[in-house]
Amino acid sequence: MAPSGMNVPFADLHQQYLNLRPELDAAIASVIAESAFIRGPRVEAFEQAFAAAMDARHCVSCANGTDAIYIALVALGLKPGDEVIVPAMTWISTSEAVTQAGGKVVFCDIDSITYTLSPAKIAEVITDRTVGIIPVHLYGHPADMPEIIDLADKHGLWVVEDCAQAHLAEISGRKVGTFGAAATFSFYPGKNLGAMGDAGAVTTADAGMARRMAMFARHGGIRKGDHEIEGINSRLDGLQAAILNVKLPHLADWTARRQEVAETYTRGLSDLTWLDLPGVAEGVSHVWHLYVVGCDRRDDLIAHLKGAGIQTSVNYPRALHQLPCYAHMGHAPNAFPEAQKLATRNLAIPMSAEISNMQIAAVIDGLQRFGAQ
Ligand SMILES: Cc1ncc(COP(=O)(O)O)c(C=O)c1O
Repeated sequence: MAPSGMNVPFADLHQQYLNLRPELDAAIASVIAESAFIRGPRVEAFEQAFAAAMDARHCVSCANGTDAIYIALVALGLKPGDEVIVPAMTWISTSEAVTQAGGKVVFCDIDSITYTLSPAKIAEVITDRTVGIIPVHLYGHPADMPEIIDLADKHGLWVVEDCAQAHLAEISGRKVGTFGAAATFSFYPGKNLGAMGDAGAVTTADAGMARRMAMFARHGGIRKGDHEIEGINSRLDGLQAAILNVKLPHLADWTARRQEVAETYTRGLSDLTWLDLPGVAEGVSHVWHLYVVGCDRRDDLIAHLKGAGIQTSVNYPRALHQLPCYAHMGHAPNAFPEAQKLATRNLAIPMSAEISNMQIAAVIDGLQRFGAQ
């Protein structure tokens, strides 16, 4: 029996800080002592360490995961009118970056089990104006990259992987982010690897692509004062780099703990016939940025769990084609039925490396009690 009156935060960022406090405090103090706020050795060390951890040849750090997508698209030479296929169910960064880079967003439905882009549905929306695909490894589950790359190669398209939620996820032992022309990452504080503010990066195996991305992110010049093109200012700052350097060595252990938490949830909730549990495709390593369940009476369930001290989150309440900013596209609500279904049913329950076994038991108990009502 789980203890009553226990609070279960959705994710416990403060606990993560407490666990690493001496190292984090020292890293932050050293940046301040040296006034090493922009670029410098900490940023370079992080870029090298992150590339190595992701099995990538190059890492270009930047200000956040949204800029990361934008920077990759500009470096790929996106032109006005170029169509880019993105999932209808993702965080808006994936699509807004396409528009910001001058392209045309084309939504595509997701798979009913993995919640990632459906290769069969991608084939249906490819036109002669399509230039690329941005699969999102949503909630930490890898998209079907072998099929997507096959399709892209057949049609001469590039692929940029949105890995914002999927650091270290794998397909048959190969890391996500190593399949496409570039992979974009977010280090938003709540991500599997999170900074203490906004931060992001792009990885690639292509040296030319890495150079173009670094140049664009730094006002169009790799060397100060030497602007080969006009760019933007999108930098990982020294404080965030120092923080990420402390956290990165823990990412593999944190991921393993997330996987253990997910297994415990799945075991404890498998009898609840009214609850959809997340599916995992054969041969993939899911990194559980979010553990997302589904049910008909979502609002009642949220209120019930809140009453038991358990925080939840809806990611996301609307599929992208249902947002006011995309109303001009004229999509019917059921244009992307799986995305629509997920948007109306999804509920993320507490998930982090810091959650205790007692808290996990309290979440399972809370869900079972709702089922017994
Ligand atoms: C799928 C996805 N793409 C892109 C982003 C953008 O990252 P950021 O918040 O660092 O700009 C996020 C994070 O919120 C995300 O979840």
